[in-house]
Order: sequence, then structure tokens, then C-alpha cells
Amino acid sequence: MLNNIADYSTDTPTEDESLFEQIACGLETQGYVILTAALPHPVADSLLHYLSRLQEARFHLAHIGRGLDQTQNAFVRRDKIYWMENSHPDAAHWFDWTTRLKRYLNRRLYLGLFSFESHFARYNPGDFYKKHLDAFRGESNRVLTLVTYLNKGWEPDQGGELVLYAPDDGNEITKVAPGFGTLVIFLSEEFPHEVLAADRDRYSVAGWFRINGSINQQIDPPR
Ligand code: OGA
Ligand code: MN
Repeated sequence: MLNNIADYSTDTPTEDESLFEQIACGLETQGYVILTAALPHPVADSLLHYLSRLQEARFHLAHIGRGLDQTQNAFVRRDKIYWMENSHPDAAHWFDWTTRLKRYLNRRLYLGLFSFESHFARYNPGDFYKKHLDAFRGESNRVLTLVTYLNKGWEPDQGGELVLYAPDDGNEITKVAPGFGTLVIFLSEEFPHEVLAADRDRYSVAGWFRINGSINQQIDPPR
């Protein structure tokens, strides 16, 4: 009867678990983590598949802010985005992986992450996203930002880096090349960041883990 029940106490960590632990450690010690080409290949490949079947026309100019505050601001960002559908079969791998990461981080760091929303972004050559925060204290329930990239064969001279800045002194921490499967995860309210222009198309996937901001049993709508 009990034979089918795995004994987790003696299991060596799965590949995902050691990746999740690296992420938890980085968040715990410095509030951010950058892992080059770390997203498991089946997950990255399924995102690329989803992206490749999206029609050009489905990408829209990104808006800054939420609800009535939304303004299209070409001075701040020039990318075009497409919000993923949670139920889309091509997104299943991605949402499955992010759900497991969420569970892991909640157990390990007590973050209370509740939901996850995610979009593709396309930056055409010259497009940028100026220095910004993804969330403002007390105004948003975005807790954790997760970014990954779908660009194969990205060369160092092609630009398009994500620049991460320190929360306290605002100094540059590092620049990250948007190479395939590279993961950047950071506390949304803490780390200003910016996307530099590239000389080729640049595809990223950005996602936000949110705490539950629901009032009176009404689930807080995403974005
Ligand atoms: C964003 C963002 C970073 C990137 O969409 O808010 O900062 O590297 N994206 O694409
Ligand atoms: Mn951002």
C-alpha cells in the first residue's frame, strides 16, 4: 500500500529543486538573483513555441501604471507586449514551472505569493525601457519580478542589456545580456532597472508574483 509513496526525506533534490534553492538563496541574501541560461529547456522551448505562433498584431504598446492611471508613454518604454493566457496549452509548462517555484519560495521564505501574471515583450531595434520600479510600496501587490529571455545566439555587442540598480544608493549593480533562458528575479519594490536599446529584435518574458490583494472575497484582478 505504502510502496507508491515517495520518501522525500532521503531524495536528492530534483534539478528544479536545486534551481529553486539557488533562487531562494539569492533572494534571501541579496534580494535578487541572476542565473545565466538557467530556465529548463522544455520550459524555454515551449515559451518560444507559444511566441512563434502569436500573430504580430496581437502585440500592443505597453501602458505605464494601472487602471485609470494608464498612459501610453513612448518616452518611458517602447516595447510591445502580449499578456499570456493562463489556459493556453503552450503556456502550460511555464505556468506549471512558475507555480512550483512560487510554492517553493513560499515554503522557504514565507513570501505569501498568491498569483502570477506574465507577458511577452518585443523590443524592436532601438526600443528601450527607461529606469523604473515594477511596484511602489503600498500601491501594488507585486512582490517578485521574474524575467527570462528567448533570444538565441545573443552576442555581447548587440546591446539590449537589462541594467539592475541597487535599492539604497542607486548605483548600477550589473548588466545582464538577454540570452536564451537567462533568469533574473528580484524584489519588485526594491530594484530599479532599465532595458537598453539593442540592434536586433529582443524578446523577453516578464512575470510578477503577487500577494493576495482581494477585498470582500473578490479576487483582486491582475494588472
Ligand atoms: C518590464 C521589464 C525587463 C526586460 O517589463 O517591466 O523591466 O529585460 N522588463 O525585458
Ligand atoms: Mn520592469
